[in-house]
This record gives sequence, C-alpha cells and structure tokens, in this order.
Amino acid sequence: METPFIYGRLAKTDNFTNRAKERSQLANNFIGLINTVIISPRRWGKTSLVRTVADELQQKRKDIIVCHVDIFNCKTEEQFLKNYSNAVLLATHSAWEDFISAAKKYLGRFVPTIAFSDSAQTYELSFGVDFKENRLSINEILDLPQRIAKDKKKKVAVCIDEFQNINNYEDSLAFQRVLRSHWQLHDRVCYCLYGSKRHLLMNIFNDADMPFYKFGDVFFLQKIIREDWVKFITKRFESTGKTISEELSGQIADAMQNHPYYTQQYSQQVWLRTKKICKAEILSEALEAIMFQMSLLFANILDGLTARQSAFLKAIVFGEQNFSSKKVLKKYDLGTSANIKNLKKTLLEKDIIDILPHKNIVLQDPVFELWLKREVF
Ligand SMILES: Nc1ncnc2c1ncn2[C@@H]1O[C@H](COP(=O)(O)OP(=O)(O)O)[C@@H](O)[C@H]1O
Ligand SMILES: [Mg+2]
Repeated sequence: METPFIYGRLAKTDNFTNRAKERSQLANNFIGLINTVIISPRRWGKTSLVRTVADELQQKRKDIIVCHVDIFNCKTEEQFLKNYSNAVLLATHSAWEDFISAAKKYLGRFVPTIAFSDSAQTYELSFGVDFKENRLSINEILDLPQRIAKDKKKKVAVCIDEFQNINNYEDSLAFQRVLRSHWQLHDRVCYCLYGSKRHLLMNIFNDADMPFYKFGDVFFLQKIIREDWVKFITKRFESTGKTISEELSGQIADAMQNHPYYTQQYSQQVWLRTKKICKAEILSEALEAIMFQMSLLFANILDGLTARQSAFLKAIVFGEQNFSSKKVLKKYDLGTSANIKNLKKTLLEKDIIDILPHKNIVLQDPVFELWLKREVF
C-alpha cells in the first residue's frame, strides 16, 4: 500500500494541506507581477508552496510562465547565472529544438554548449565563456526573462529557492546591486525569492542600506495550524482504510509543534504501526522510534557545542527567555549577559535556534527539543 504521508519530498496535491490563504496570496502576486520574498525555517513548506502555486497557475492560465531556479548548490555567481539561464530557457522553451534555437537566439554570442542528459530528461547548458571577464554577458543573461516575456507576449515569474546563498558569493553586495538594477526594470517579470535563513534573508531584504531593500512583499510562512493537521491526518488515514481519532491526530501535531516535515514523519510512523484503528500506545511507540532514529545525529550536534552553548539550549528548553536576568545567567551558568549575544549568534548560524520576530528564542527542531528534554537535561 502506498504511504499517505510524505516527508523529505515536495508535498503536492493529496499530500498538501490547504494553505489556502498563502496559495491565493502568492498566485495573486504572480498574476499581478508583484515581487515576493518568502522566509521560514527549513522544512516548513516553502518549496512545496511555491511549486504547488506554480503548477496550479500553469494549468489555469496560458499567459504566465513560471521558472524555478534552485541555487542551493550554486557556490559562485557563475553557477548562479548558469542555473538561472537554464531554468528560464527551459521553462519557456520546453521542446528540444525550441530550446536550442532559443539558446542561440538569446545567448548565441557566448557560444553556449548544450549537453543532453538522458537520465534526467533535461537539457543542460554549459557556457564556453567566463562571465566575470565580460560584464556585458551578465547583463544579457539577467535580462533573459524580460526579453523572452516580451517576445512571447507573456508574463514570466522567476522563483529562486535558497536565495540566502548569494550571501556567500565573492562580492555579494556588488552582485546584489547588479541583480536589483536589472530586475527592477523588468515590467513583464516578477521574482519570488525565498529561503530558510531568516537572519541572512533579513539582512538582504530588510536593511535600508542593502540593494534589495523594499524589493517586494515579504512574507513569513507559518507552520500549518493544528486544525488543518487534524483534518489532514484523519483524512489521510481514512483514504487507506485506517482510522485515527481527531484527538490522537491533534496529539501528533502537538508533539511536533505543528512542524510540517515532522508532523508528516510522525504521522507516517503512526500509520505504519496501525493495523486498522490507531490507539494511544502507537503514538508513544512511534515517537520513541523517531527519537531513536535521530539520536545519533542529535548526539553529534550536542558534541559539537561548547558547555555554555548547551547550557543556553537547556535554558531555552526549560522555557527561559529573559537572558539579561542575573538569576537566569547564574542558574544555567551562562556567564555574563555580554556572552548571550555571542551564544545567540553562533546557535543561529548553526541553524539550531531561531529568533522569532517578537524576539522569542526557540529551538528549530521540535524532536531535538524533545530529545534534549528527555535524554539529556
Ligand atoms: N502544505 C503542506 N501540507 C502538508 N505537508 C507539508 C506541506 N508543506 C510542507 N509539508 C511537509 O514538509 C516537508 C518539507 O517541505 P518543503 O517544501 O521541502 O520545505 P522548505 O522548502 O521550507 O524546506 C515536506 O516534505 C512535507 O512533508
Ligand atoms: Mg525548500
């Protein structure tokens, strides 16, 4: 029987809870050519959301083309530009002959070489020129979506995943300036830039001195609410002839703090152990299994922390938030309040904690938190 829950892959159609508001907001931005920035911690559902909205839009409307660029593995500007041009060309020219002639037409001057990769069923471009030596080529590549949109008399939406990675480029600020200066002139194209590291993305988009300041709608994708999870989990069980009560479904979501990835994973583990009707014991069993499965990884993370860093985690796990209080500093042996700033910074950079807009500090991983509570502190 095919499993009704998925994690680690994109959630789509049946695997997707409704997220109705976010979906219509994003779709309207695409249609209205409004730039969008989406920020949330990892595994909360950004990629799933963007892909779902794009697919729905492509089915409904012929006047808009959506391109997806993932720059997770792009370590340099050159790689960024290569992925960008590939994604834009491919989305706008899906047939092979079409793709070749478009590559010639728009990028012919750079003599792109085109390789055909059989297994992936996709075309890949690799360029014979170094972009860095020739700023002109960057200009033409960045303007690709606008030029194609004009020629095709369509709108184009360019979605760029893991956008915070541009921070690592050699001269990121200069690159950001170039990007912005081009993109803001595109009147037939909108950009949807999204990624996971809130602090990095906030630096890019929320700082008045930075090129991408006020680039577009910034929205913080939230977790999926409990009510939606309850509906989702009960329905997914039903679809396979199994039953789970609303109460137990709610407990699954609660234990995972509504975290999208983990709620799916936990649901899956519970579903696998359920023959016909789910019982409370199954929930505890499944949770043990997940924690056991993760424990080695968690132990490694903990090993990589200093005593102070792990003490700081302990304080968070026990619900402390007031880190300027002498009492808290002493109780957890955190040193002086000047230390706290560094602790926050490092743990944020390690992706272990997150600082929410109202300055609340939380652990990013709800299972890590459970594990720390039970096994360590
Ligand atoms: N709308 C949704 N409904 C149900 N599960 C979801 C939804 N969005 C995400 N998920 C779950 O979360 C996991 C991570 O989603 P993903 O889109 O890859 O997150 P991100 O791009 O933010 O890292 C998915 O594999 C899926 O299990
Ligand atoms: Mg993603």
